Amino acid sequence: MHDIQGYLELAIEVAKEAGDYAQLVRWQDLVIETKSNAMDLVTQIDKRNEEEIRKRVTARYPNHEFLGEEMGATSSSGGVRWIIDPIDGTINFAHGLPIWCVSIGVEVEGVMECGAIYQPNLNEMFSVHRGKGAFLNGSRIHVSSLDDPQRSLFVTGFPYNVQENPGGVIQQFSHFLERGWLVRRLGSAALDLAYVACGRFEGFWEAFLSPWDVSAGQLMVREAGGKVTHYNGDDYNIYKPSIIASNGLQHSAIEEILRIK
Ligand code: IPD
Ligand code: CA
Ligand code: CA
Repeated sequence: MHDIQGYLELAIEVAKEAGDYAQLVRWQDLVIETKSNAMDLVTQIDKRNEEEIRKRVTARYPNHEFLGEEMGATSSSGGVRWIIDPIDGTINFAHGLPIWCVSIGVEVEGVMECGAIYQPNLNEMFSVHRGKGAFLNGSRIHVSSLDDPQRSLFVTGFPYNVQENPGGVIQQFSHFLERGWLVRRLGSAALDLAYVACGRFEGFWEAFLSPWDVSAGQLMVREAGGKVTHYNGDDYNIYKPSIIASNGLQHSAIEEILRIK
């Protein structure tokens, strides 16, 4: 038997510790390195957070496995896997812009069971337990009930090689703007999803994401009453790159615009 409630409590605890640690660092003291290109950054805090989260989880559950942005994957036997983004929104973090979070999802035998997304700057802890709901600081959250795109607020994001326009992401974005839709770009996919779950945004889409960006957030949107698919409408799988997450009422409107060539 798996103690999902125990995993969730630990996810909340370690996300909080990592977020609070990162928040105390003066951004002038950050050691910033680049990864795939000059825009793709990592700091010593991203690395420290992932190490620390793994250490604390391993101390409690020595057999659990990990997949994280900075340390990769441990061997996977299909048991319990913690999928970690130690700082989602690293560019914002590296610039001292307080829109970033720690995101942790816990997958058990291939099913995402629970997770936490913590944004220390607003003291907001989003949590989710499959079948039991999504929560913000312990209170149940729901997606918004707006069905008119013209009165709604949306959010999207772009990959680090956006200048190469992979998958036509630049034209896709312009199709929304041409229709007068209000679209934000916050720079943290995990927060984008948490904010759809709690009704701040009606929808989110992004073409190329990794499992650690979405592990907890996609479950939050579903548990908050929303809908999550790939761009082509297929059932969502965190290991495949595209995502549309919405309040459900505007899902097909987003899908249609993304289909325009
Ligand atoms: C990035 C953020 C951003 C999204 C990028 C991600 P990182 O993650 O979630 O919003 O547009 O695709 O890579 O690098 O800040 O962890
Ligand atoms: Ca990320
Ligand atoms: Ca990250």
